[in-house]
Amino acid sequence: MDDKRFIANKELVTDDGDVSLRPTTFDEYIGQDKVKANLKVYVAASRARGEALDHVLLYGPPGLGKTTLAHIIAAELGVEIKVTSGPGIERAANLASLLTNMQERDVLFLDEIHRLNHSIEEVLYPAMEDFALDISTGKGAGATSIRLNLNKFTLIGATTRAGMLTGPLRDRFGVICRLEPYTADDLVRIVKRSARLLKIAIEDDAARELASRSRGTPRIANRLLKRVRDFAEVFNGGVISRDITVRALNDMEIDALGLDYNDKKLLDALVNKFDGGPTGLDTLAAAINEDAGTIEDVIEPYLIQLGFIARTARGRVALKAAYDHMHVKPSKKASEQLSFFTTSDFKNE
Ligand code: ADE
Repeated sequence: MDDKRFIANKELVTDDGDVSLRPTTFDEYIGQDKVKANLKVYVAASRARGEALDHVLLYGPPGLGKTTLAHIIAAELGVEIKVTSGPGIERAANLASLLTNMQERDVLFLDEIHRLNHSIEEVLYPAMEDFALDISTGKGAGATSIRLNLNKFTLIGATTRAGMLTGPLRDRFGVICRLEPYTADDLVRIVKRSARLLKIAIEDDAARELASRSRGTPRIANRLLKRVRDFAEVFNGGVISRDITVRALNDMEIDALGLDYNDKKLLDALVNKFDGGPTGLDTLAAAINEDAGTIEDVIEPYLIQLGFIARTARGRVALKAAYDHMHVKPSKKASEQLSFFTTSDFKNE
């Protein structure tokens, strides 16, 4: 690649030469308006005080921009970010070494924080609360502990499973943000922005079609955009029209609402095999041969957002919109259950 272009577009070009679609400032970041507005305030206030930002927990389904937000927070704070993940930290010493190398006000991004080993998690408690590491030396009666002071840093934890965090860990975050699936309008803006960065021609109604089939998730929208571009280049002279978008997505078995094979498998089991539920998560997981965690984190959030299924204390139930979408007539028992869920003030758990 030509050096000048690389320098001019430094923030846009990743190591492998791919254009990065990730926004790098709050202003470039589309959607999650409430979270973004609050974070802007916290970042501005901590900058003005010259203090480290309080620890931040970002949670929500995959692909909604937790990692992107962490990088933006660090950039807007004007500090360095170190990136690691729960499963990536195998020993307490690994975490200790990361922490002792943090400069004042730097950010440590800890992805999948719910997968951190519990004995390692205990190292984090004094680090987060008192910016200190307790190092034990010696054994038995002679054992003592030395306290090592750390620079004041910000931990940004990200998780798809906030419920799996222990109470003591959750309580040590001063800022807790829940990311929601994106609206179709926000996804249209994201698709158009990505198309512009990738120098792809996309028509307005094509962007809307793509957005409405992206399950509320920018990561999926950007992935589909690249695949639809392939179809457009092979069959449509490179222009992404609505027709070529519909054809590409249909060929990829992604339906009008963005449901794919796995969503359909789950809905089919709940509606046809279990007569609308309630069905326990583990039973459902066994029936469709899928991991329970994947169902909860990846498949269900969008189906819940669409009003297709609900999580109840007794298990998962299919709602009317799911029957309508699948063109299935509910049984007598399922109809009675549906009228309960539509007439009562039922709320998803
Ligand atoms: N690309 C991926 N996520 C984005 C977002 N939230 N805003 C802008 N571009 C994005």
